[in-house]
Amino acid sequence: MKIQTKVLLSKILIHFFALSPLLLNYFWSITDQNGADPVKAIIHFTGIGALNLLLITLLISPCAKFLKQGWLMQLRRLIGLYSFFYALCHVINFWLFELNFQISLFLQELIKRPYIWLGMAAFTILLLLAVTSINYLRRKLGQNWQRLHYWIYPASLLIWIHFYWSRKADLTEPFIYLALIIILLACRPKKLKNWLLFK
Ligand code: HEM
Repeated sequence: MKIQTKVLLSKILIHFFALSPLLLNYFWSITDQNGADPVKAIIHFTGIGALNLLLITLLISPCAKFLKQGWLMQLRRLIGLYSFFYALCHVINFWLFELNFQISLFLQELIKRPYIWLGMAAFTILLLLAVTSINYLRRKLGQNWQRLHYWIYPASLLIWIHFYWSRKADLTEPFIYLALIIILLACRPKKLKNWLLFK
């Protein structure tokens, strides 16, 4: 099969598998079929979804190298953008359904729940990465583009702390995610070093 065909088919599958569970979860929440607390359910679903998609984005380059399938790299931007899209839904769900879009309530939440600060910091990084993934900005930024995109590594750790801190009980799931993040970061020692040395 031609590489272009493989990329096209994979992108169609990514759109399908990213959008259908999201739409289904909104449908279940709106029709009151998403458990006892549909608002919490959709906040949790989009939060975990954003994290899962971020981890898949980080998995692409080690997989492409290991399997010698360079074309997989062409899928990275789309999955990364879906991670941002889920994170955007997560933030909007929280702000709209829990706080009725009220800034004053949001400020109160920041004082009451400090893990929200970390979520905000991570969201700001994801926003910057999503905006600068546009080809025009990528070209304009040149070398700085790579430096900026290394910020995906601290973002993944910030998201993990946000996740861990938001959990009141049963920490098994956060620790499984921590192990996955550490493995994915350990796969790219050179890039991590470059990020730490501002190279
Ligand atoms: C302004 C930014 C953010 C706000 C206000 C926010 C808010 C929240 C809230 C209210 C919860 C639920 C806590 C509870 O159980 O009561 C939560 C959990 C979570 N958030 Fe965020 N978040 C933000 C950014 C992010 C980002 C950028 C990600 C990932 C890319 C993320 C991933 C998660 C995860 C994985 C959980 C745990 C879900 C679970 O327990 O099933 N959050 N967040």
